[in-house]
Amino acid sequence: MPKKLLILGSQGMLGQELSKLFAVDAAYAVTAWDREDVDMTDFAVFGARLEAEKPDIVINAAAYNAVDLCEADDAEYAKALALNRDLPDFLAKKSVEQGFILVHYSSDYVFDGTLTESPMKTGCCGGGCCGNKGSSGSTTKLGYAEDALPNPLSRYAETKYAGERVVQEHAKKYYLIRLSKLFGKAGVSPEAKRSFFEIMLEAGQSKSEVKVVDSEKSCFTYAPDLAQATKELIESGDAWGIYHLPNSGGVTWYQVVQELYDQVGLATPIIPVGSEAFPRPAKRPRYSVLLNTKRPPLRPYQEALREFLQEK
Ligand SMILES: NC(=O)c1ccc[n+]([C@@H]2O[C@H](COP(=O)([O-])OP(=O)(O)OC[C@H]3O[C@@H](n4cnc5c(N)ncnc54)[C@H](OP(=O)(O)O)[C@@H]3O)[C@@H](O)[C@H]2O)c1
Repeated sequence: MPKKLLILGSQGMLGQELSKLFAVDAAYAVTAWDREDVDMTDFAVFGARLEAEKPDIVINAAAYNAVDLCEADDAEYAKALALNRDLPDFLAKKSVEQGFILVHYSSDYVFDGTLTESPMKTGCCGGGCCGNKGSSGSTTKLGYAEDALPNPLSRYAETKYAGERVVQEHAKKYYLIRLSKLFGKAGVSPEAKRSFFEIMLEAGQSKSEVKVVDSEKSCFTYAPDLAQATKELIESGDAWGIYHLPNSGGVTWYQVVQELYDQVGLATPIIPVGSEAFPRPAKRPRYSVLLNTKRPPLRPYQEALREFLQEK
């Protein structure tokens, strides 16, 4: 009997990749819902649909991601709370009632970015990304492991952290996956955000020089790679809990644009600037590299970027 898998937010950047990947595996019977199917914050209607569906696994890729909009606008903040805190709260409680496995996603933005260097156990988000040689000659890595303590800096980050806490508190069989800077095919809806890379390509083609922030370092996550890593995690039988699954390689916005322009052969000068050059309502962590200490590392972001550019 195939497992009944329900994907929420199935037309978003990640949801589309999850839907494609699981649909071709006969071990799963996939149902995919997005806004046009049901408003997932209307819990009476959504709850009735969920009960009728009787899934074995629910992957929740629906979320509110407008980081700056919800910082500045109370109505938007309320929407962010409904999707990023109340929906996972509802799903976590339902997962126990109905007995399904819950997979939920969170963000590197739950961390405050004020790290001091500490020795790493194994693996990391990076293949040589954030490694430094310690005085003993052993490799140390700077970044947030899965059990690091969050300390959100913005309203958006607070809502994502609140979502993490309700899943941990109420669900029993859950995977809580943190990622950082998702890129891939844009979501289907007209409001869907385009990838940072597409915006930077356009800028590189139309401007004489491009200024890019060099004072925030984190990882990038290619949506098809995260979908694959999510599937492997579900099938692994690994312990329930928090996982970090970005592509390997900690990098700043500036460094990643250098890589992008190298790959496509764009010679437009790139000027590194501090984040104060682009004032935004929501504060970002300066350093939010996620360390993956539990699962096999995902491939380096450079390789994923190459594939993204070929598939575009
Ligand atoms: N994007 C990033 O850089 C990033 C970084 C860190 C973590 N994450 C996390 O990764 C996960 C996937 O993100 P993503 O970028 O793939 O998200 P996304 O593209 O914004 O997709 C979310 C989907 O959920 C739908 N949705 C929103 N509100 C809904 C509602 N009330 N009822 C039904 N459907 C609704 C959206 O429809 P509409 O488009 O019509 O609203 C959209 O199709 C999320 O948990 C996100 O927080 C993302």
